[in-house]
Amino acid sequence: MSESLEVEKLKILITREQIAARVAEMGVRITADYAGEPVALIGVLKGAAVFLADLARQINLDVSFDFIAVSSYGNSTQHSGEVRLVKDVDSSMQGKNIILVEDILDTGLTLTRIRRLLQAHEPASFRIAALLDKVSRRIEAIHGDYVGFEIPDEFVVGYGLDFAGRYRNLPDICVLESDSGKI
Ligand code: IMP
Repeated sequence: MSESLEVEKLKILITREQIAARVAEMGVRITADYAGEPVALIGVLKGAAVFLADLARQINLDVSFDFIAVSSYGNSTQHSGEVRLVKDVDSSMQGKNIILVEDILDTGLTLTRIRRLLQAHEPASFRIAALLDKVSRRIEAIHGDYVGFEIPDEFVVGYGLDFAGRYRNLPDICVLESDSGKI
């Protein structure tokens, strides 16, 4: 076991049961809102992969998947200020009903950049589904159309969210703390 594993502590913030119940509600709302129209879910790698997999199975519509990857955080918990496109969508989104699926809305820098890129495809519609929202951290004026949970300004991991590439597989969403306090 590495030394860092011993000094980091996890405290559950949102349980797997609460996540499952909320994701099911979000799926019901999306199904109702699009009223039989097909939707294209676009997940932001890697964090949104777990959420997208669960959300997609709660949507009773013709659903397609694509993924986009950007780099913004590196291995630190501070936003670098720069958002670089690492992987674009595989095909044109022209005329599609895009739902951008993100693990967490924080400063909004990442989604603002991605929104601009995707709107250039001229989709029929564009909405955002974010599992978590740290409203108090927002720098860009952007909001989630479907939001799972508003959370305080704490660094969280699990259910797809990582710290330096770790903890994505935790079933619950946890606050990560070190022995000297919050990360
Ligand atoms: P934004 O551009 O500041 O909105 O950052 C969004 C991205 O930052 C998310 O997709 C995450 O990858 C990362 N992020 C922000 N807050 C957290 C957190 O508490 N835990 C893990 N990743 C986070």
